[in-house]
Amino acid sequence: MSLNNNLKKILIIDFGSQFTQLIARRIRELGIFSVIVNHKKANNLNIFNNNIRGIILSGGPLNVYDSNKFKFNRKILSLNIPILGICFGHQIISKELGGKVKKSKYREFGLAQVKKVGNSQLIKNFFDKKNTNNVWMSHSDQVFKLPKDFKVIASSKNSKFTIVEHHKKRFYGVQFHPEVTHTNKGKILLKNFLFSICKIKKNWSAKHQKLKLIKDVKNYIGNNKVICALSGGVDSSVVAQLLSKAIGKKLICIFVNTGLLRKNEAKQVVDTFKKKLKINLIYVNAEKEFIKRLTNVSNPEKKRKIIGNLFIEIFERYAKKIKNVKFLAQGTLYPDLIESKSVTGSQTSKIKSHHNVGGLPKKMKLKLVEPLRFLFKDEVRKLGLELNLSKNIVFRHPFPGPGLAIRIPGVITSQKIKILKEADYYFINELKKNNLYNKIWQAYAALLPVKTVGVMGDNRTYEYICLLRAITSEDGMTADFFNFKKDFMQTISNKIVNNIKGINRVVYDVTSKPPSTIELE
Ligand code: XMP
Repeated sequence: MSLNNNLKKILIIDFGSQFTQLIARRIRELGIFSVIVNHKKANNLNIFNNNIRGIILSGGPLNVYDSNKFKFNRKILSLNIPILGICFGHQIISKELGGKVKKSKYREFGLAQVKKVGNSQLIKNFFDKKNTNNVWMSHSDQVFKLPKDFKVIASSKNSKFTIVEHHKKRFYGVQFHPEVTHTNKGKILLKNFLFSICKIKKNWSAKHQKLKLIKDVKNYIGNNKVICALSGGVDSSVVAQLLSKAIGKKLICIFVNTGLLRKNEAKQVVDTFKKKLKINLIYVNAEKEFIKRLTNVSNPEKKRKIIGNLFIEIFERYAKKIKNVKFLAQGTLYPDLIESKSVTGSQTSKIKSHHNVGGLPKKMKLKLVEPLRFLFKDEVRKLGLELNLSKNIVFRHPFPGPGLAIRIPGVITSQKIKILKEADYYFINELKKNNLYNKIWQAYAALLPVKTVGVMGDNRTYEYICLLRAITSEDGMTADFFNFKKDFMQTISNKIVNNIKGINRVVYDVTSKPPSTIELE
């Protein structure tokens, strides 16, 4: 399904920078649609249709002379479209047009001061009164000879050609990263590129997306039926609500209660989607089936596989009962599609087999509808609000597909699940009560498979340890533990131990990711 093809856009060519996704996000925050393509795909000129109003060449770990590792499509430079090269992108423009790049005498990583030495539309309002600004650098090569007709706009102590331009061609190069927040007023520089140089008009907001996606989905689906696996998480909730607005009762959602959800969650999903939003919802209570298949299983990967497979089995079982279904809706997001990590050819080793309600079987022979496939998570949240979903759903912490099963290391029993649901409930409520829930990216309680001795009243206890985890993060790829005040920790520890039979000790996880992961298994 090719939504958004006819929107005016900025094309970002990715050379493997860790910041490429940030470039796209900043541009979208400025109200312009942007897409990322891997540099290998940029050799196909078909992608340069009339709707591209500007091109950004990203940074990357490559060296401009390393032609074994990449081939630059020179035709990009003769399309008469404005180009902004960032870091490696800046170096490649210079090299291709006759300039020279070489290893810097000093590598520049971190903050650097740049000084204005020329004028350009690109730097309007970018410099302070003393004509300086602090920017974020991350490079070891640099341009040391500019191509013909380029002029210097700004320099730093270590790189003379920090901002350059070819006015007539509308080519710009910056050695630093305007997309990272450490670069002061980096967004202003990007804004100048978009609006003063590319002359593109705002076309990207939650409202635009809502109207456009509803229209596109309607056209794409016609009179057919769509099924959707609803988990109650943000992504599948937004997909369901969007489709419901677009095709009404032709959407059928299937919600599988695995018994591994948070306390009250199943009821909340049914209340919200079936009762309040009047969406066609099939509720499947599969608690017993899941616990049966998980009996005596303690290996984390086995647990994940069993849960993923059973989920699919049940979903298919119910989906088959609905006649004439042509489409399957999934909450795939943009970061899942971007192929930026393969520039150096390295494969990251498999840490965990993620089970996602989105990852449904291909063999079902249904056509996919993935209306969120061009959106980042924060955009999905804004779209959710625009679609009138409650803040409660839209700003929920992420919850893993295998649910509480991976928060009970070792063997799972109904009793352990019951204890954990209560502990998690107390923890999350306490966070909400103290206005901490929205400051934390994800928080949960886990039940460790260890019993320890305690004393309550005059009696000895021998019960489980509850582990609490709360992290801050941008995207779940890296994370840091949240620094609670002692009072909070004392209160929550007391509440859990005093109210939940089965737990007599509470510990807090203070590891970051890496070296740990967010979940325990
Ligand atoms: P880790 O534990 O890998 O978690 O650091 C990163 C983020 O992913 C979530 N997570 C999952 N989400 N299916 C999901 O949909 C899964 O199988 C799964 N495993 C982990 C985790 O909660 C965190 O937000």
